[in-house]
Amino acid sequence: MQQAIDREQVRSVVCGWRQQGLKIALVPTMGNLHAGHLALVGVARKKADRVVASIYVNPTQFGAGEDYGSYPRTLDADREALEASGCDLLFAPDHATIYPAGIENAVRIIASADLALPLEGQFRPGHFDGVLTVVARLFNLVCPDLAVFGEKDFQQLQVIRRMVQDLSFDIRVIPVPTVRERNGLAMSSRNNYLETTQKEAASHFSAVLAEVVERVIDEPAAWRQAEKDAIARLEHLGFKIDYVSVRRTKDLQKPSGDGGKLRVLAAVWCGSIRLIDNMKII
Ligand code: PAJ
Repeated sequence: MQQAIDREQVRSVVCGWRQQGLKIALVPTMGNLHAGHLALVGVARKKADRVVASIYVNPTQFGAGEDYGSYPRTLDADREALEASGCDLLFAPDHATIYPAGIENAVRIIASADLALPLEGQFRPGHFDGVLTVVARLFNLVCPDLAVFGEKDFQQLQVIRRMVQDLSFDIRVIPVPTVRERNGLAMSSRNNYLETTQKEAASHFSAVLAEVVERVIDEPAAWRQAEKDAIARLEHLGFKIDYVSVRRTKDLQKPSGDGGKLRVLAAVWCGSIRLIDNMKII
C-alpha cells in the first residue's frame, strides 16, 4: 500500500493509474477504522481497480463543544487494517493540503437546505457544510471514478449525492449498508467511548428502531404514533433523545402517504455519548 500526504503525492499515484486506464474508488474516512469502514473498502475493491482510502479528521464539520480535539486518532493501526483489506493508497492529508488558504479563509460549500437542515442539521448546525467542504476537496484531489459511503450516516449520504448531482461531479456514489455489532449496535468510532455497561444499553437503541420498522410496515399511516412510542420507550431506557423520525428516503421529508420508500432516522444520547442510527422501512 502506498501513502500520500499532499496534493503532489496523491496526484502522481492517481495520474499513473489513470494513464493505465484503471478505475479508481475513493473511501473517505476520519480514521479510527472499524469493520464498517473496512466494508466500504471491500465494496470499493469489487467495483474498481484501485482503492484510495483517505483519513482526515476534518475540523470544519465539528461544532463548538464537539469532540474534534479528542476524536480518536489511530493512524498506525488504521494503516495496518487498510493494508490487510487490500487498499492501494492511503491518503492522509495535512491541513495545508485540504485547506491551502487556511481554515478561516477556506472556500466553503453550503449543503442543500432541504436535505441538510432537518434531523442532524437541527442539532449540529453547519455540520453538513463542513462535510461537503472537505468531501469536495477530496474529490478534486483524488479525482476518483466512484466514491463509497456508508448508510450509517444516511443523511450525509443524501447530502453528498445532492452535491454530486448539483455540482456535476463526474463521480458515482456507492452506498454500503450499515455494519453492526452482534447486539445490533451500529459500529462507530465513537462507540469506543462507551463503557461496557453502556454498550449493552446502547444495543436497545437499534432494537427500538427495528420495532418502528415493523410497526410502520404493518401500518404505514401510524408512523407518527410509532415515532412517539419509540421516543417514550428510549426515554424509559434512559436515553436522552435528539430525534426519532420517520422520513421519505428520497428527500428526507415527512411521509406523505404516497407509498414511496421510508426510513427511520434517530439520534440519542447514551450518557455523554451521542449515537446515530437509521433503518430502511420499505
Ligand atoms: P467517518 O465517520 O470516519 O465515516 C467514514 C465512512 O464510513 C462514512 O461513509 C460512514 O458512513 C461509513 N461508516 C461509518 N460507520 C459505518 C458502519 N457501521 N457501517 C457502514 N459504514 C459506516 O463520515 C465521515 O467519516 C466523515 O463525515 C467524512 C465523510 C469522511 C468527511 O469528513
